[in-house]
Amino acid sequence: MMAVTSRRYGGPDVLAIETVPTPQAAEGQLLVRVLGSSANALDWRLLSGTPLMVRLMMGLRTPKRLIPGADVAGTVVAVGDAVTGFRVGDAVFGESAGGGFAQFAAIDAHGVVPLPDGVSFVAAGATAVSGLTALQGLRTHGGVKPGDRVLINGAAGGVGSFAVQIARILGASEITAVCSTSNVDQARALGATRVIDYTREDFVAVSDEYDVIFDVMGNRTADQIRSILAPGARYVAVSGPMKNRFLGPFPHLLAMRFALRRSDASFHQFTAAPPSTTSTIWRRFSLRAS
Ligand SMILES: NC(=O)c1ccc[n+]([C@@H]2O[C@H](COP(=O)([O-])OP(=O)(O)OC[C@H]3O[C@@H](n4cnc5c(N)ncnc54)[C@H](OP(=O)(O)O)[C@@H]3O)[C@@H](O)[C@H]2O)c1
Repeated sequence: MMAVTSRRYGGPDVLAIETVPTPQAAEGQLLVRVLGSSANALDWRLLSGTPLMVRLMMGLRTPKRLIPGADVAGTVVAVGDAVTGFRVGDAVFGESAGGGFAQFAAIDAHGVVPLPDGVSFVAAGATAVSGLTALQGLRTHGGVKPGDRVLINGAAGGVGSFAVQIARILGASEITAVCSTSNVDQARALGATRVIDYTREDFVAVSDEYDVIFDVMGNRTADQIRSILAPGARYVAVSGPMKNRFLGPFPHLLAMRFALRRSDASFHQFTAAPPSTTSTIWRRFSLRAS
């Protein structure tokens, strides 16, 4: 099959198109003909091998994973042993451990769900990683409930644009989206009740309070964040500045965690759940959203 490969760490120029062996569906896996995939911040981190701690898991000198691409949508062409609930020809989407940038991908069956009616392979192929991050951040960690005032910092990107829509579905009464000028209309169309254009206004300078802050950017200090948290609020940190070459955002996130202990707000930093729990999460959410 044809695949996009990365045999060393680096920028987009390390990517190549090659003919490689078609994977097999191992026990517990599906072989999927890929009809939609997308490039996430996650794929970029794994491709570049940054921060350097990524390489401890993904290969010290060269990436262990040949084919990038965590998001996959397509049709099942083979079903591995011990898989139940899927048949050849089923349309599915979900998250894989890599391999989406190819004609075929072998994916753990518990990492995918059936494609809902009316959803294209292209749309579904850009959903799992970003959508699950937003869903877990807002629902599991943020505990967003009807009537909450939610602020999403970084509302125009992959994760943030899902977060705006999910906050609306969860019943937030006020959804404040922080993004740049060119994305203001998009944020409104997705459900934001107020948009702060960060090129003109600083959201921490607007004297408002929020019950949940979903922070995709992590570009503010703990004192600034504390000043806009309502009593008992939840601060959900998705990422932070990549200032530390080895540890990336983690020193910043640790500092935030300690600093926010001095307030009555709670701090939640998380890594999106692995594909093993993906299908359960999607199934439950689809039921509620519909
Ligand atoms: N915790 C986890 O499990 C998890 C999972 C997935 C991703 N992440 C992390 O989440 C981060 C975002 O991922 P993503 O896929 O959403 O990235 P993305 O699609 O590249 O989006 C980033 C967004 O940041 C916005 N932005 C840039 N500067 C900003 C500023 N000063 N204030 C507010 N917004 C600003 C941009 O909006 P404009 O275009 O409007 O400037 C852009 O759309 C990455 O660091 C990623 O590693 C974490």
